[in-house]
Amino acid sequence: MKHTVDLTVNGEACSETVEARTLLVHLLRDQLGLTGTHVGCVVGECGACSVLVDGKLVKSCLMLAVQADGRDVTTIEGLSGGAALHPVQEAFVQRFALQCGFCTPGFVMAAHALLCANPDPTEAEIRQVLSSNLCMCTGYVQIVEAVKEAAARLRSCT
Ligand code: FES
Ligand code: FES
Repeated sequence: MKHTVDLTVNGEACSETVEARTLLVHLLRDQLGLTGTHVGCVVGECGACSVLVDGKLVKSCLMLAVQADGRDVTTIEGLSGGAALHPVQEAFVQRFALQCGFCTPGFVMAAHALLCANPDPTEAEIRQVLSSNLCMCTGYVQIVEAVKEAAARLRSCT
């Protein structure tokens, strides 16, 4: 059975027809072409599919598309709001916090959500939030450093 889902994605209203079983990550990638949101484990373990739903960090493989009806979704494509990188993205580049990059959109969204809620997190708080995401390449040290740098950059802007 098909359902219509009306939602806002990266500031744009859209209306999509989905199956009841369609996951939000598949709506974003396969129907809206927002392939920056990655599909890894599809069981909520890796965090590669992380997006914001009404400003809250959500693993989009754990949410049905129909549950996004009436909600406001932000993906990695909507983070910067333009051609320039978001400060969190800049910090990841600056601190070499990625290698293959598969996990990166999820880590950036998790870091962004953390810094919106807590602009001056301790390293323990950063590690706690990032523990919901997995990276096979970096060893995490540079990712944590990037989040610290992003926090400092964002604080200096306010
Ligand atoms: S693909 Fe969603 S948590 Fe791994
Ligand atoms: S940079 Fe390759 S999985 Fe994280």
